[in-house]
Amino acid sequence: MGTDEVAITASAPAKCILFGEHAVVYGEPAVAVALEQRLSVRLTPAKMWSVDGSSLNPRRHPHIHHLVHEIWDADSEPAPLSIHVSGDIPRASGLGSSAALSVAMGAALHASKHLTNPSDSIEEFCRMAHHAEAKAQSGRASPMDTSTSALGGIVVLSDRKEQGCDWKFTSELETPEGKRTWEIHTLKPTENEIYLVLGNTGVHAPTSHQVALVAAALEANPTRINEIHAIGSIARRGLLALQDENYEAVGHAMSENHLILRNLGVSSNELEQLISAALPTSLGAKLTGAGGGGCMVALTRNPKATSEAIELAGGRTLISRLGNQGLSIDSNNGTPFWG
Ligand code: PMV
Repeated sequence: MGTDEVAITASAPAKCILFGEHAVVYGEPAVAVALEQRLSVRLTPAKMWSVDGSSLNPRRHPHIHHLVHEIWDADSEPAPLSIHVSGDIPRASGLGSSAALSVAMGAALHASKHLTNPSDSIEEFCRMAHHAEAKAQSGRASPMDTSTSALGGIVVLSDRKEQGCDWKFTSELETPEGKRTWEIHTLKPTENEIYLVLGNTGVHAPTSHQVALVAAALEANPTRINEIHAIGSIARRGLLALQDENYEAVGHAMSENHLILRNLGVSSNELEQLISAALPTSLGAKLTGAGGGGCMVALTRNPKATSEAIELAGGRTLISRLGNQGLSIDSNNGTPFWG
C-alpha cells in the first residue's frame, strides 16, 4: 500500500484571548476565540520516528513524546511514524501554537490507533492536549489554549458555570499547588463583518514570568485583588456584549480590560505603541495573552487600515474573523495503521 493511502492529517487553530487573561489564574472568567491561522500534522508510517526529518526527541518535542506515551501504554508499542508539522501560527507569541500542536497531534495519533470520529471524543482530546501542555510546562497550564483550539468558536473558561453560555465540560489538573478545576463553555461565533487584527511585537516574554509579576504585585498589596475582580466584571460584560453582537461595547470592554492589565504591570512599550497605533481605526484594543511582549489584538470593521497602522508602528500582523473551526481530521482513509 502506498504511503499516501494511509496518511492521516489533522489540523487545529490558533487562539487569542479577548478578555480575562491573568485574572483567570485567580478564578475569574476569560473569553478566547479560535483564529483562522491553523497548524496541521500529517502522519505516515515509517521505519523510525521522526518530526520534520529529525528523529523524535523528548527534549525537542515534549508534547508529541507525551502524547505518544499517553496513547500507547508500555506493552503496546506503536509502529513508528513520520510526522510532518506545517501551518501559519507564529511560535512563542501567545497565540497557542503548542496547544494547536497538542490538539492536532493527539487527535491524529488517536485516529490512527482507534479510528474514532473526533466529535465523539472532543472532551478526551482536550484533556490529552491539556495534560501534554502541563507536562511540558512543569505541571502548570490552564486549559484555555487547548480547549479553544479543540472546540473552536468562542470559548469561555471560569471557576463556575457561567449563565448564557453553552456549558461543555469540567476540566481538572493536578498542579504542584494542588488540584485545579475549570468549567469550559462555548458561545456561538458571529456571522458579522467584524475582524480581529493581531499585532506581534516580536518580543518573547515567558508566560511564567508574567504570571509571577502579577502574583508579586498582589503579594505586595493584597487589595489589588480588586483589580483582578474588575477584570472579571469586564469579562462578563464583554461576554454579554458578544452575545448581543454589540461590537462597540465589546471593543470598549477590551480597551478597559487593557487599562487594568497595564496598571498591573504586564504591558510593555512595544505593546503600548501597537495598541495606540490601532485605536484610531478600531473599536477597541488590548494586549492578548501573558503580555510583556507577544501580541496585541484590535477589534475592527476596517482590518486593512488597522493592520497598516500596526505595521507602520513596527508590528507584524495577522487578520482573522472571530471564532473559527476547531479540531478537524482532514483526511483518513478509514484504515487504522495498527490492528
Ligand atoms: O501565554 P498565553 O497567551 O497562552 O496566555 C496566558 C494567559 C494567562 O492568563 C496569563 C496565564 C494562564 O495560565 O491562564
